Amino acid sequence: MRPLMPAVLLLAMGSAQAAPIAMEDQSQLHVPDAQAAPQFAPPAESELPDNAFGKMVRDGHALFVDTRRLMPEAVGNGLNCSNCHLDQGRLAHSAPLWGAYPMYPAYRKKNDKVNTFAERIQGCFQFSMNGKPPAADSPQMTALSVYAYWLSTKAPTGIEIAGRGYPDVPRPQGGYDFKRGQQVYQEHCAICHGDNGEGQKVAGEYVMPPLWGKDSYNWGAGMHRINTAASFIKYNMPLGKPGSLSDEQAWDVAAWVNRHERPQDPRLVEGSVEKTRLKFHANDGVNLYGQKVDGVLIGQGIR
Ligand code: HEC
Ligand code: HEC
Repeated sequence: MRPLMPAVLLLAMGSAQAAPIAMEDQSQLHVPDAQAAPQFAPPAESELPDNAFGKMVRDGHALFVDTRRLMPEAVGNGLNCSNCHLDQGRLAHSAPLWGAYPMYPAYRKKNDKVNTFAERIQGCFQFSMNGKPPAADSPQMTALSVYAYWLSTKAPTGIEIAGRGYPDVPRPQGGYDFKRGQQVYQEHCAICHGDNGEGQKVAGEYVMPPLWGKDSYNWGAGMHRINTAASFIKYNMPLGKPGSLSDEQAWDVAAWVNRHERPQDPRLVEGSVEKTRLKFHANDGVNLYGQKVDGVLIGQGIR
């Protein structure tokens, strides 16, 4: 065994030859092994203390499941946070809040900086909710963070817990296919999400969320990546029958969903889809933004 170096010397060396910091791409999470059974269970609502903290947790929960109605100024589409983070942000393999909260602050390639938890949530407001993010120090942001903090009670900090994110679904050998995807959609999805991905409303309120069109997530959202949508779909859809689609079916239907128009990427560069594609989409997983499908340019946006 090598003799231990005196700490002073190590420090001196460290400052002389500082290595570049390795940066993980957090825009597509490295999720733990999908097969590993989640060990973590968030606390039950009955465990909430009856005090100011408990009240704020309840406020955050309400904002998470009823986002559009309670924060119309911040939401620009027909979605609530809980439409993509199922079971009120509690469900494993559905990007649960307890898998996220203990992992921030973290570097994200998407905006090339270290993001606080509040900034991560702001990202979902801007893209997934096609809206205007509330200020980091606003009461709403505090309540949402407090809700996530409480769900993470007893979770370790800075360690990936099984069940975080949406597990990777390997790209099928033959790639994906729009025709097959359309068929999967008609057979397994249209009954709830509508023939044209428009969702369903009752008394003016969505009861089934839209998958494309003006009220859906925008072209900058993580869900616009076919790989991310395939992961979400494989592990969470059809609602009530998660895991029933093959990997290929999940990719096919994710491609079908994400070849349809949705609100423009709010980062649009100089009004140009091509410039935006080069800057933000060329290295962002598998996506169709700025590409032609059947001769039609995808990513023109819809209002
Ligand atoms: C259209 C679907 C969708 C909606 C709606 C949505 N999100 Fe997300 N959210 C995602 C995706 C996709 C990711 C990235 C997961 C990945 O990369 O594996 C994500 C990631 C997150 C993360 C980080 C997860 C982690 O483990 O690091 C948080 C926190 C989060 N969302 C909170 C929210 C909040 C709060 C709202 C409502 C204001 C919201 N999301 C609305 C799709 C959505
Ligand atoms: C039984 C009804 C039902 C079926 C069938 C179903 N979904 Fe969903 N889906 C929902 C509901 C409800 C939500 C919102 C979940 C929530 O809020 O708890 C949802 C959420 C989603 C979301 C995220 C929210 C959004 O609007 O972008 C996507 C993507 C999605 N479903 C895709 C699919 C696909 C693809 C299929 C077919 C393979 C499918 N769903 C089948 C009911 C259904």
